[in-house]
Amino acid sequence: MENIILVGMMGSGKSSVGRVLQNLLEDDFGLVDSDLAIEKKAGLKVDEIFSNKGEEYFRIMENEFLEELKISKSILSTGGGMPCFNENWHLLNNLGTTFFLFHPVHQLIGNIAKSKISRPLFNENDFRNLYEARLPIYKQSTFTINCENLHQTQIAKKIIRLYNS
Ligand code: S3P
Repeated sequence: MENIILVGMMGSGKSSVGRVLQNLLEDDFGLVDSDLAIEKKAGLKVDEIFSNKGEEYFRIMENEFLEELKISKSILSTGGGMPCFNENWHLLNNLGTTFFLFHPVHQLIGNIAKSKISRPLFNENDFRNLYEARLPIYKQSTFTINCENLHQTQIAKKIIRLYNS
């Protein structure tokens, strides 16, 4: 069975939608969160990797994680920048079906403001620019899910419908 790959900007709910998906899917699916896997390997939180080692080091770790990843029948929640660096986009699409969780930028900014996770790249102006720059990459996903005003369960159900179609 194909893996389900969730991509999109920070604040788009990839990690939480991944967990909801795992609960809703009838078969037993694995769940991998790239940021958590990288944190475990580095023994540091993502924001500590950024501040102690720099973004470039983090991007290398992301690429290595993906190169080494062997999964089947799993959901992969990716870090927001993962599809945009190195040959990761190609690796992700070889791994499974990609689903882009699309939200209007103001909704993402609202989600990030509410979230407790510390995000090293967050600055509202830079974020808007990053959003514009990354959108064309994310949009190359197999499916784009319009998540505007939807709850996580509704988003997960949309993904399951497309996955099974
Ligand atoms: C990043 C997004 C983060 C994390 C890192 C860089 C990005 O993941 O990988 O802080 O470049 O957009 P989330 O999308 O899970 O917040």
